[in-house]
Amino acid sequence: MKTVLVTGGAGFIGSNLVRLILAEEPDTRVLTYDLLTYAGNLDNLRDCLEDPRHDFVRGDICDREAVTEVLGSGNISEVIHLAAESHVDRSILGPQGFAETNVLGTVVLLEAAREAGVKRFIQVSTDEVYGSLGSAGSFSEESPLAPSSPYSASKAAADHFVEAFGRTFGMEVLITRCSNNYGPCQFPEKLIPLMIRNAMNDEPLPVYGDGLQVRDWIHVSDHSSALLAVLRGGRPGEVYNIGGGNERTNLEVIRSVLRLLGKPESLICHIDDRPGHDRRYAMDASKIHAELGWQAGVGFEQGLEDTIQWYMDNAGWLDSVATGEYRDFYSAWYSGGRTTG
Ligand code: NAD
Ligand code: TYD
Repeated sequence: MKTVLVTGGAGFIGSNLVRLILAEEPDTRVLTYDLLTYAGNLDNLRDCLEDPRHDFVRGDICDREAVTEVLGSGNISEVIHLAAESHVDRSILGPQGFAETNVLGTVVLLEAAREAGVKRFIQVSTDEVYGSLGSAGSFSEESPLAPSSPYSASKAAADHFVEAFGRTFGMEVLITRCSNNYGPCQFPEKLIPLMIRNAMNDEPLPVYGDGLQVRDWIHVSDHSSALLAVLRGGRPGEVYNIGGGNERTNLEVIRSVLRLLGKPESLICHIDDRPGHDRRYAMDASKIHAELGWQAGVGFEQGLEDTIQWYMDNAGWLDSVATGEYRDFYSAWYSGGRTTG
């Protein structure tokens, strides 16, 4: 039985992917490696922890010794690398941790994977490495990398290292770049769960700038199925863009959240814009569709309704992740002139 190592598997996308692999591939074992930072939560994997085909190891991708031990511990043939610091706003307040985890951690993992003779390495990256679009067009795999934030710069740097390991050492590496995800278990720092949480608590909904920035939303289950398709059928050395084909302005998304929760638009409050804020992202996902037959299946309206229902049914999960650290981050973030008043 082959084993896939999933780094960051206790996070939002990772936990969804681990569950999908266990369900879809009865002959695959999954080893989740995760540090359980503020964004990682074993509760996200609750139903997988009892599965005899799943193991969990707590550890840091920057810890060379621990990573080497994990990669040598079982018959690991493939790595899907999701572990990362993932939030743009946090990268603005503290870029260094993003360089450490996202760049150095990726290099540590690549070196250990090469030594262990891992057959396939999938780097889970983001559309944000391409920078910002004007009102027309979309990113293709050939678009130049032009990251704006410390987060996207760290992901772009990691992508370069992954490609370099492919070219220099002949490793079988692949990169996926996906648009904005939403769905169950997303930490309430990202737009959709933050707006759901605040609206549920009748707190102000902080819109950065004019709120007319555009994102292409994809349900996390569609991202996971794309990752599995790339793991199984992607061509070595290739980049695959993944997108949901659901372009919405932030204000459109926020108004939908309020409508579905039956809350008033008077909760919306415009605050100072995010520095270096990318105006628009849109993905051309025709390559993964043509080569691997993948396409997104969840419509945005239905996906958003289901997601809101999940957060309403799991208010305890929201309370458990919104800890003192969460409140400290927001008091630092809003004190930089970004008042919600
Ligand atoms: P997340 O923040 O929910 O989860 C990240 C996980 O990584 C957490 O479980 C955390 O504990 C773990 N982690 C962090 N630092 C670690 C370290 N040093 N060692 C081991 N584990 C560590 O993030 P997510 O939204 O699930 O994103 C997962 C990946 O997908 C990231 O690489 C991100 O860049 C990429 N991505 C995310 C999106 C999105 O919309 N969320 C879109 C495209 C790509
Ligand atoms: P986010 O979920 O942080 O994802 P990303 O910056 O990686 O695209 O933000 C999505 C969009 O929502 C982005 O344009 C910033 C905006 N936004 C707000 O207006 N208010 C908020 O409180 C947050 C978290 C995001």
